[in-house]
Amino acid sequence: MPTANASGVKLNYTDTGGSGMPVLLLHAFPFNSAMWEPQIESLGDKFRFIVPDLKGFGDSDAPEGEQAYSMESYADEVKALVDEVGFDRFVLAGLSMGGYIALAYMRRYADGVAALVLADTRAEADPPEGKEKRSNQQKQVLQDGTAGLIETLTGALLAESTRANKGDVVKKVQAAMENPAAGFIGALEAMKNRIDSTDSLAKIDVPTLVIVGENDAITPPEAARKLHEHIGGSELVVIPDAGHISNMESPEAFNGALAEFLNKR
Ligand code: MLT
Repeated sequence: MPTANASGVKLNYTDTGGSGMPVLLLHAFPFNSAMWEPQIESLGDKFRFIVPDLKGFGDSDAPEGEQAYSMESYADEVKALVDEVGFDRFVLAGLSMGGYIALAYMRRYADGVAALVLADTRAEADPPEGKEKRSNQQKQVLQDGTAGLIETLTGALLAESTRANKGDVVKKVQAAMENPAAGFIGALEAMKNRIDSTDSLAKIDVPTLVIVGENDAITPPEAARKLHEHIGGSELVVIPDAGHISNMESPEAFNGALAEFLNKR
């Protein structure tokens, strides 16, 4: 897999190649690029996907120390990747934390983004109790490693029906959460400190697709509806029978919505 030097951070990424407009896929917390396999497998021959492991995840650099992580630094590294791979117009897509980063990217750069996909994400910052929960999760990972949090998140992120009926998906989700402890701690810091993007949504003037799993308990359909209401001309698609990781839990419906949107670009 190729790597890019993004603002001094080595980022591992997949490029499916092809001649269409590049589509940059940003993964969720605490995943890596493997979470986008269902999209690469089904749609990778029709669209050119660029899929990085974000800092702290997969095979990318995972610096120690929370100060190395923020939504702004993630956005800067994505910009450096875009510049290094060398495309000037692309579709930016992020799921959950990937969506927080996409919103930071739109605040800082926006140029070059031809269209936006925001999946299972929200514009609001964390409330005080959310920040406290993340601090406790950081302590847990520091003391005990990542296994306990991966187990908790498996319960929280996935729809009950996924956990009950889709054992293969549960295994793939858990495998994609196997990442360095430094990445968990750093990304939790970045999410904890992220600013509210609500006011900047009105400035988004590119075609935007908002996707959400109907049973997403982390960034529920109300959060997606707010994004849809604030982003002029955006489309909203609710994925039936899916929780927060809608692209892995119900890939057919997710891919259908994504392909329909990308075909128009
Ligand atoms: C994610 O899926 O990226 C995280 O669960 C988002 C969050 O905790 O806010």
